[in-house]
Amino acid sequence: MAGKMPGLPEHGGRAFEVARRLGLPAARILDFSANINPLGPPPGLKRVVIRALSEIGNYPEPHAEPLRAALADHHAVEPSRVLVGNGSTALFYLLCRALRPRRAVVFEPAFSEYARALTAAGARISRVVTHRGRLFCPDRPRIDQALKSEPDLIFVARPVSPGGALPDGAVLAELIKRAAPAVVVLDEAFLDFTPQKSWAGQKDKNLIVTRSLTKFFALTGLRLGYLVGPSKLVARLNALDEPWSVNHLAQKAGLYCLDQAEYAARTRRTVDRLRLRLAAGIEALPGAQVYPATANYLLTRVDEPGPTVPKLAARLEAEGILIRDCANFRGVGPNHFRVAVRREAENRRLVAAMRKRWID
Ligand SMILES: Cc1ncc(COP(=O)(O)O)c(C=O)c1O
Repeated sequence: MAGKMPGLPEHGGRAFEVARRLGLPAARILDFSANINPLGPPPGLKRVVIRALSEIGNYPEPHAEPLRAALADHHAVEPSRVLVGNGSTALFYLLCRALRPRRAVVFEPAFSEYARALTAAGARISRVVTHRGRLFCPDRPRIDQALKSEPDLIFVARPVSPGGALPDGAVLAELIKRAAPAVVVLDEAFLDFTPQKSWAGQKDKNLIVTRSLTKFFALTGLRLGYLVGPSKLVARLNALDEPWSVNHLAQKAGLYCLDQAEYAARTRRTVDRLRLRLAAGIEALPGAQVYPATANYLLTRVDEPGPTVPKLAARLEAEGILIRDCANFRGVGPNHFRVAVRREAENRRLVAAMRKRWID
């Protein structure tokens, strides 16, 4: 299985599980291992969801048609180019199931569900490992390497994860152009935290942009994502999309979130400020080196005299603080962890706890 290491969980975001083990309420867990907007959901969202609860005796819109139309409007594309899903992860699986790639490329390190979805669909995967010196972003030599394997499908993220840097736009554009007719899936799950505009409106016939609302709008437990691609490809996905895969509350929440321009701008300003401060706090720890990043998470490499990451993660977990050990991300290298940018006081608590646990 993709990047699986014995003893290491596949994903961050295990707050419920750890709370159960420690006998604490989940609200007492400080989860830096999942990258969620520190402002929480937009103001007014809970009211919208509670109102929608009175309607859950009905089936939801089978393919989220009103939300699909609103998303199409948002990106200035036809609704036939949009498909809504139960989080972007569900869409990766749908994509692989519908397009049935024989050979695929994943630029690593990457979100492990790309490879799992490809494997489930029977694809052979070429893993192209990006360079630390390039902040784990694809460059021209790696594009050459990727295309040599003659893939039908390519997964790439913007910004990359867990590194957090934005790949060069010209390099990505070249990848999309040269890869055709292979389909390029561009994962913009964290793009809204950066100042960059989405590529969802682009007209390339082989580009599918996937977007997540679970991170930027803090709808993690509600689940909501969508993709934008050429109508012909989206029609193929639509044919396999199960009805009612997106629940009524998530659909209503999505419609509400699309109108939250002020909250979006405030999120970007706040996260920028918090990220810089958190990076400075971590970097002050002996042996810690934080990679430059653009979104709401930071990757850190720890060298001597710092601790080993498993030891640090275990010590923090025992006091209810979760960080992401990156040992099962391919190509990251030893002794790296990723943390989300949370609120100021929480970030300070993390740095203080790390300082205490840093050296025996
Ligand atoms: C890079 C990346 N893309 C996509 C996802 C999936 O997000 P969701 O399924 O919540 O939309 C994640 C989740 O951690 C991620 O890290």
